Amino acid sequence: MKPNLLALAALSLSTGCLFGDSDNGQYVYQSYCQSCHGVDGSGGIDVGIGPDTGYYATGGSGFSANLKVRVPQLTDEAILKVLRDGYKGMPSQFSEDDDQALDVLSYMRDTFE
Ligand code: HEC
Repeated sequence: MKPNLLALAALSLSTGCLFGDSDNGQYVYQSYCQSCHGVDGSGGIDVGIGPDTGYYATGGSGFSANLKVRVPQLTDEAILKVLRDGYKGMPSQFSEDDDQALDVLSYMRDTFE
């Protein structure tokens, strides 16, 4: 393994985040997620649900999850599973081998913390 790969691996371990392109992830988020999760991740602003009515705020009535709350609580693996398999009211977003899932994960780790 080349030294720069080792450094990247160490960085990955220390941040606990898988590789993904956060800049592209922002585009992915805006294209695929924002309509349900809102511009800032706090709920379905764009579908008229309102910023304070994410999953937790409503006691789990099925509205889009507040990602600012949920993303820091979930592991990378759990988030990728949600993106690939869907979760309750959320349809599957990406197939198993689609790197957009990693990109949007990186973006969310950078943004919702
Ligand atoms: C059609 C609307 C819709 C779209 C599009 C959508 N989601 Fe969701 N999402 C939901 C709903 C609804 C829930 C909450 C389900 C529940 O908790 O009842 C959810 C839950 C989640 C959760 C939390 C799961 C948990 O364990 O609490 C994550 C993370 C998430 N979405 C990420 C994303 C990302 C990233 C995208 C874009 C790639 C996306 N979602 C696209 C509707 C959507």
